[in-house]
Amino acid sequence: MEQFLNLISKEMESAFEAAGYDSALGRVTVSNRPDLCEYQCNGAMAGAKRYRKAPFMIADDVAGALAAKNDGTGSAVFSKVEVVKPGFLNLDVKESFLQSYLQQMSADDRLGMPLPEKPEKIIIDYGGPNVAKPLHVGHLRSAVIGEAVKRIARFHGEDVISDIHLGDWGLQMGLVITELKKRMPGLPYFDPSFEGEYPDEAPFTVSELEEIYPFASARSKQDPEYYAEAMDNTRRLQDGERGLYALWQKIVAVSVADMKRNYENLDVSFDLWNGEASVHPVIPGMVEEMKKGGYAYESQGALVIDVAEETDSKEIPPCIVLKSDGASLYTTTDLATIKERVEKYHPDKIIYITDKRQELHFTQVFRAAAKSGLVDQDTELVHIGFGTMNGKDGKPFKTREGGVMRLEHLIADIDTEMLSKISTNPEIPAEEAEQTSRQVALAALKYGDLSNQASKDYVFDIEKFTSFEGDTGPYILYTIVRMRSIMQRYAEQSGAKDPASLRTGLPAGPVEKKLMMDIAGFNAMMEGAYADCAPHRVCAYIYQLSNDFNSFYHATRILTEQDQAQKESWIALLYLTERVLSRCIDVLGFSAPSRM
Ligand code: ARG
Repeated sequence: MEQFLNLISKEMESAFEAAGYDSALGRVTVSNRPDLCEYQCNGAMAGAKRYRKAPFMIADDVAGALAAKNDGTGSAVFSKVEVVKPGFLNLDVKESFLQSYLQQMSADDRLGMPLPEKPEKIIIDYGGPNVAKPLHVGHLRSAVIGEAVKRIARFHGEDVISDIHLGDWGLQMGLVITELKKRMPGLPYFDPSFEGEYPDEAPFTVSELEEIYPFASARSKQDPEYYAEAMDNTRRLQDGERGLYALWQKIVAVSVADMKRNYENLDVSFDLWNGEASVHPVIPGMVEEMKKGGYAYESQGALVIDVAEETDSKEIPPCIVLKSDGASLYTTTDLATIKERVEKYHPDKIIYITDKRQELHFTQVFRAAAKSGLVDQDTELVHIGFGTMNGKDGKPFKTREGGVMRLEHLIADIDTEMLSKISTNPEIPAEEAEQTSRQVALAALKYGDLSNQASKDYVFDIEKFTSFEGDTGPYILYTIVRMRSIMQRYAEQSGAKDPASLRTGLPAGPVEKKLMMDIAGFNAMMEGAYADCAPHRVCAYIYQLSNDFNSFYHATRILTEQDQAQKESWIALLYLTERVLSRCIDVLGFSAPSRM
């Protein structure tokens, strides 16, 4: 369906044209004085100079053209066209026009959201956890924002592949292997003469792994010999030494199984579980091509690509493709991953969602990829950098002891907080309360994150996030639950009809009209959220819509209404609002319980 605002603009544009002016002047915007009118058009002011006429006169001509429409009965779109000095056109929209738009939305599975003519192939790279390290709060934002961006793009009709891009290669793996060898030297993985089958079972649990990594990392910083050994093990692993490779596979398997459980709890999922290691075989060929093409050259032993551009306002250092010892880096695997993705999937776009402190890295990688021809000009590489999640003290969120907070613990905390609130409802049995509080807590967590523009830092405030009032996830869910409960009670009344069969009527008053106008803005909002990879727009929209609905609800006795036609019209509106809200929370990555 065409966007509501575009339809209104078209009406105005045709009036400008009919009055003898450039139709482009007829663009309509939402009013910035809602106390005076719903929409406005400032085109007469913009055209004054060109037509050497007072804006007021132009506006008058246009209003006249609108009044003359439909054999003099006036515009079918506007109920009010007011010319205000110096030349504003203040507009209200006709109830019948709004009603018909909503009826079309109701009849559409996609709520008026058109499908693209040709879907784009988009790869979204998010999550990015590191093997053998526990997920911590730093990984939360990438997962939550990435999942929403993915779902928005899918709803928009694009062909989307999500890839977790595990950090599963490099020194961190060498460190873990080194420490495992110290603790369990007798394992067959460390015996170069071992030719048999390695055991199925991993010789460690995930908690052991997670304890080993920080231990080994700390020790390597104090003990040069230990560090050298870790470097050597990293190289031997990367060279494919049989035992170390088999052990590495065990480390990855144990770690990934744990990650899957964590991401499932967050309702976050990936199509591809590729990692840095998976592109290891791509690197030599890529490097060769970069050298042959003259893009990469040796500088102080390292292999680099110059990526500075004349227009840069700050210095962008060369992109290092290989270190002087020939080892690959974070940059190398990202470049090789681009090469692989382009060859395998031919994406139109690759979107990366990471901490914004990685901005320079991605600038270098994107430029090096374009320069060396890994991507052509039509392939868009986008980095969405997010800000830090802070504690109430304004500093990066920490545990009470000052350590890095594990994601699991953060989720457990918010679950507990939610449970204590939901348990106060005596109607909900304990088991349901537990399940519901997990569902609502997830919404609290995700909404608390997503409602902020991604690039900004935000404060993780458990009391605020879990509140049933204000701009929070639980408030939105509470509103949806309220709607469903009204529909449920309606269904139990005698003479109740299937809400999907009912038609929205004319608004009975301004509060209802406001709700209807905001519903009509759904497709425009979603389009914007997609174009800008901006889930916060969806949040702002549903917060407004929930407020609209609650005002309407408090002003209206829906279920006891005696006029059947009026009641049915309200149920139809309620049903549509519920569909819009449910669709929105689904793209944000959470869902509503049946009661709370
Ligand atoms: N593992 C990385 C980290 O923890 C994030 C990976 C992001 N994705 C990418 N393609 N570089 O910082």
